Amino acid sequence: MSKPIILTGDRPTGKLHLGHYVGSLKNRVALQNEDKYKMFIFLADQQALTDHAKESEKIQESIGNVALDYLSVGLDPNKSTIFIQSQIPELAELTMYYMNLVSLARLERNPTVKTEIAQKGFGESIPSGFLVYPISQAADITAFKANFVPVGTDQKPMIEQTREIVRSFNHTYSTDCLVEPQGIYPENEGAGRLPGIDGNAKMSKSLGNGIYLSDDVDTVRKKVMSMYTDPNHIRIEDPGQIKGNMVFYYLDIFGREEDKANITAMKEEYQKGGLGDVKTKRFLLEILERELAPIRERRLEYAKDMGEVFRMLEKGSQGARATAAQTLSQVKEAMGINYF
Ligand code: TRP
Repeated sequence: MSKPIILTGDRPTGKLHLGHYVGSLKNRVALQNEDKYKMFIFLADQQALTDHAKESEKIQESIGNVALDYLSVGLDPNKSTIFIQSQIPELAELTMYYMNLVSLARLERNPTVKTEIAQKGFGESIPSGFLVYPISQAADITAFKANFVPVGTDQKPMIEQTREIVRSFNHTYSTDCLVEPQGIYPENEGAGRLPGIDGNAKMSKSLGNGIYLSDDVDTVRKKVMSMYTDPNHIRIEDPGQIKGNMVFYYLDIFGREEDKANITAMKEEYQKGGLGDVKTKRFLLEILERELAPIRERRLEYAKDMGEVFRMLEKGSQGARATAAQTLSQVKEAMGINYF
């Protein structure tokens, strides 16, 4: 029996932060090290270009940064295939064929795309590539015959659309060459969508409320010290609120089993009054640094040789391309366009 296949990717539009770390990276490393799956992880630069066409230099820069983030959290090119979407032209070709099986109305119905269109303020000028990106995502997933796709809940509509495309393709061309994938979503919704340090519902670059895997310790300290807590907890003696208090929210997520008793005691003291924010923040900083310090150290080490990082990506892309080419040839055969 060959191993089940897992595929997942990120848009390279900036460095990765703690939200990415608890929401997906940590889980990917665990899956990789279980050694039960064949894993493909990729940088979806073509997808990033669908709404950043005029900022390609930002995407180029992010490729190096995200690759460093990957390596420093423990994704290992010897265990997983790490590659760049744009270096696999077979993906664009598959997208072409799938486009004929998806109506415009279906694309316009995709709830995540709808939300993004509203957020990005495209108005009447939605790039056609943007509307079509769920189809290109279906190409990413099916080219590698992925069985499982670990993603955030916002990606559910993409997986659903991919499954429809697979069924439609296999039915239309009487084949079973495409595989219907299953999404794997975060069990813990809290970790699946980590709020920002300002208490905003989502940690995100555009909101400027993130702690990055590449932040140095002083930056992390400053960010932790500026975290949103309880605005009514003014004097140390005042009773404080846990709900909505980012320090406790993060402690619950980043605390390990052995920290639980300590965290519970701190919560009680805080609610009663008598525990200051500086103390809770110092404790959180310690907990975060336990996780971040080794990542940061490895990151600095890998960053010394970007040539090597790009060679790793090139090798990964070559391997991925061979797999995607096999699928494309089956697809063309099923469609009867393998003329020669
Ligand atoms: N849309 C995903 C995101 O924004 C990135 C992505 C592109 C992806 N292709 C994929 C994820 C294929 C999983 C599988 O995060």
